[in-house]
Amino acid sequence: MNQRAIFITGGAGGMGVATGKRFADAGWKVGLFDLNQQALDEAKSAVDGSAVMTGVLDVTSTASFTQAVSDFSNFSGGRMDLLFNNAGIAPGGLLEDMSEATIKSILEVNVMGVIHGIRAALPLLKVTDNALSMSTSSSVATFGHAKRAVYTASKFAVKGLTEAMSLELEAYGIRSADVLPGCIDTPMLREETAKGAGRPFELSMLNGLPQSGAYRLMPATAIAEAVWSAYHDSDQIHFYVPEEVGDTDRVKALDIQAARAEIKSFLYRG
Ligand SMILES: NC(=O)c1ccc[n+]([C@@H]2O[C@H](COP(=O)([O-])OP(=O)(O)OC[C@H]3O[C@@H](n4cnc5c(N)ncnc54)[C@H](O)[C@@H]3O)[C@@H](O)[C@H]2O)c1
Repeated sequence: MNQRAIFITGGAGGMGVATGKRFADAGWKVGLFDLNQQALDEAKSAVDGSAVMTGVLDVTSTASFTQAVSDFSNFSGGRMDLLFNNAGIAPGGLLEDMSEATIKSILEVNVMGVIHGIRAALPLLKVTDNALSMSTSSSVATFGHAKRAVYTASKFAVKGLTEAMSLELEAYGIRSADVLPGCIDTPMLREETAKGAGRPFELSMLNGLPQSGAYRLMPATAIAEAVWSAYHDSDQIHFYVPEEVGDTDRVKALDIQAARAEIKSFLYRG
């Protein structure tokens, strides 16, 4: 049997590397794609697999995506079992204070990046049995978070896109799913935590996060496991990490003010 192959965007970041390692350890071919080669070289040594390729990719560019998918196809033997559209950025702040350039960049990377990814990968996904198109949404797509309004909008878009694609791609036998992480210990979370504190990151800042429940700190390997399950074990569409993140969606379906109060009680006070 030919080796299965996964294409990962944001492949030099916390979740990208963890997912690459999970699949490489299980014998998959892994393509890590990200903005710069130096970060990718470090990611490749962290994944430490014999069948790992890297490629510079800006997900906001269709031309860049076309090239990346073509290079991946040469590496994988013309297949893509799993597309993991995971690259993202998360600048925060009140909507009224954000520059238009920042707002556009969030939407370009987090929304258009995923759309470009699916469209560029489609020819390979179509010729691969049981392929999965997986994207990274967020817990903010259960109920929007203050000071993350544009990020919230972008991740709701990913969640909606996932559902729509699960219908559109069914005709080709391609599945569609997303992962909705809560608080995952990655460079992004550390950077945003430090920005929130107004000083350089220190490990002790992570102690301020909830110790239990949906927003407890989880390792990036938890995302890798969710992606693994999405491919192997399940026809679920939304993968909440940890599972309690999904409670907000369930509460919201019954009582939206209760869900709002719950989010308000422990996130972004003041
Ligand atoms: N860390 C969390 O708590 C958390 C929670 C919910 C959702 N997420 C989402 O998870 C995904 C992965 O984030 P992470 O936590 O691993 O962060 P990270 O910052 O470690 O990784 C993100 C990667 O995306 C890359 N990237 C950014 N813009 C890009 C572009 N234009 N083209 C290609 N690559 C680009 C970055 O270079 C980086 O390597 C993101 O979509 C993020 O929004 C993270």
